[in-house]
Amino acid sequence: MYELDSRLRRDDEVLDIGSNAGFLSLMIAKRCARVDAVELNPYLVRIAQRCREFDGADNVSFLCSSFEDADLSGPYSLVLSLANHHTFDGNMRPDFRRYIERIRSLTASGGRLLFESHPGEYRRPELRQHLDEVRDLFQVNGERVTSSYRSVYDTNRLVVWLDAV
Ligand SMILES: C[S@@+](CC[C@H](N)C(=O)[O-])C[C@H]1O[C@@H](n2cnc3c(N)ncnc32)[C@H](O)[C@@H]1O
Repeated sequence: MYELDSRLRRDDEVLDIGSNAGFLSLMIAKRCARVDAVELNPYLVRIAQRCREFDGADNVSFLCSSFEDADLSGPYSLVLSLANHHTFDGNMRPDFRRYIERIRSLTASGGRLLFESHPGEYRRPELRQHLDEVRDLFQVNGERVTSSYRSVYDTNRLVVWLDAV
């Protein structure tokens, strides 16, 4: 549903923001050069690190930090912001523009951003407006609305591919 099969490149250096238990990072790492994942919750980071050891993946690193404060070694050719532009626990509620500016500063020229909304957000005009307001940083290069998940919490998400300007 993210179109990673067609869009992920072998030489991609990827940043996964809010990597949760790290499963997507580990999956992606098998098909790209490197993944740096940043996650605030230390328990989730510990699970991710255990899975990484089990997997034997040596091109993934899990950093326990807030994205805002993380010492990251970009630039990245692909950044994943999957339901992370704000979080319901309130741990991440930055100004949208500042959030995207930080992402842009970590993205290589010619790099891409894969952005996923929270469920139902695609209907809200402010998300469209926010994306419109950052057109000087990233331009939309394809989007879709999800409908294939099982849980009501996971339907109707906006998934957008953006190119760094
Ligand atoms: C809504 S979940 C999305 C997780 C994952 N990206 C996904 O799509 O399954 C938000 C995740 O971001 C983490 N998080 C919350 N605030 C954060 C912050 N300031 N910096 C980094 N991660 C944060 C949470 O612990 C949680 O794992």
